Amino acid sequence: MSEDIPQPEDGFYALVTGANSGLGLAIGCRLIDEFLQTRPQSQSLVLIITTRDKRKGDATIQYLRDHLQDTCRKLEKSVPGFRIVLERRVHFRQEILDLTSIVSVQRLSKRIKETIPKLDAVILNAGIGGWVGLYWCRAVWTILTDWKNAVTWPTFKKSGVGWLTRPQIPHADDGKKADEPPLGEVFCANFFGHYLLGHYLAPLLGKHRASEESRGRLIWVSSLEAYTHSLNLDDIQSIWSHEPYESSKRLTDIIALTSTLSSTAPVVDKYLDYLQDTEKTTKPRIYVTHPGICGTAIFPASIIVNYLMFAAFWIARWLGSQWHPVTAYKGATSMVWVALAKQSTLDSMETQKGVGKWGSATDRWGHERVERTEVEGWGWGGTVGEKRKRKGRHPHAKDLTGQGREQFEEMGKQCWVEMERLRDEWEKKLEDAGVAVKMD
Ligand SMILES: NC(=O)c1ccc[n+]([C@@H]2O[C@H](COP(=O)([O-])OP(=O)(O)OC[C@H]3O[C@@H](n4cnc5c(N)ncnc54)[C@H](OP(=O)(O)O)[C@@H]3O)[C@@H](O)[C@H]2O)c1
Repeated sequence: MSEDIPQPEDGFYALVTGANSGLGLAIGCRLIDEFLQTRPQSQSLVLIITTRDKRKGDATIQYLRDHLQDTCRKLEKSVPGFRIVLERRVHFRQEILDLTSIVSVQRLSKRIKETIPKLDAVILNAGIGGWVGLYWCRAVWTILTDWKNAVTWPTFKKSGVGWLTRPQIPHADDGKKADEPPLGEVFCANFFGHYLLGHYLAPLLGKHRASEESRGRLIWVSSLEAYTHSLNLDDIQSIWSHEPYESSKRLTDIIALTSTLSSTAPVVDKYLDYLQDTEKTTKPRIYVTHPGICGTAIFPASIIVNYLMFAAFWIARWLGSQWHPVTAYKGATSMVWVALAKQSTLDSMETQKGVGKWGSATDRWGHERVERTEVEGWGWGGTVGEKRKRKGRHPHAKDLTGQGREQFEEMGKQCWVEMERLRDEWEKKLEDAGVAVKMD
């Protein structure tokens, strides 16, 4: 194992993708803050951040270091002389990852596997919107007539259609294109690249003894905009969809929420490379979170539109929307909570209320909290008959029925099988072309 890579005695190893901006950067900051305040002094955080190039990685590490110093300065006020001790509890490491390149995902995974002893949390945050503009008339009309809902579940974003990743297999020396199936860009950046990463890193997430009372966690970052109608199994990569972003997020919800069902267990176990708990290993858990709505660079906008967007979000919060944390730091609440919460807390909440989607919410004053979020066809926890107050629900949300629940589970099975088929297909293709990265 390389010398330069920190491996503290009692380390908590967390990896965050897309860490150089928006929510990814905020997740890094919030993880530092909450880790230092909630974990014992004997524990250290090893924060592994991924970006698309070294320049962004360097800038991100510098930003996080500055943030760490600010946090330690503030915490020192209660215990003078404590700053140095606190600062020594956080270690940084940067890696390069482009989720639209399967080889890049494999390269990173191999490096991580060779250089750290285990992983505690992998936060699958990076993503693209794939939007190219706004339907302005619809935007103005819906915002003026139904402000809160219009900026929570917008219907006015215009998506690019037919976007594909660059070829995964380089052209031959004679310039001939390799024969490879299409790979949807939004699908790959938001979902499939992360899906592969989760598979390759699962053995490291599994390195937790049963006696530790904590499992490795694969934490997906989804969205409120994960609609049933957006996902079409005949175009699961949403290449021809007018809502590729929403489709990728719906797939995320389905895959994560059905990952603990007995009907998906054989395929999920294959994905997680899992046979049974042993003295030294346990099965990792897959969770799904979302940040609510925050002002970030995910929507390409001019400065003026950006200001208007922030103003619209603040107003929505003032009108009573719980889903407008607005700032990325508040939006990071649910991801960081799921990463750091005690396993017994998560398990007992799931035992009482079922497996759910954890969202970042705030009150009117911006006090943040974690809130379970309704998912079409799953409800709040996959339980038929669960009644909740209307707040935070989509205006057209329907109560979960037995039939809806069955359809969701069936969809989950089909999606898992299809994703494993696609993984096998691409791994074989890359191997045959001689470009795959060998893992072991
Ligand atoms: N903002 C919101 O209100 C909101 C709401 C719901 C869900 N989310 C989700 O939150 C996550 C983060 O979004 P954000 O709002 O923070 O957007 P953002 O500021 O645009 O950040 C996206 C991050 O993903 C990285 N990324 C994009 N394509 C990538 C690729 N092919 N490979 C590796 N990294 C890639 C970006 O890197 P570059 O800087 O190199 O492009 C950037 O670091 C996304 O999954 C998004 O769907 C956001």
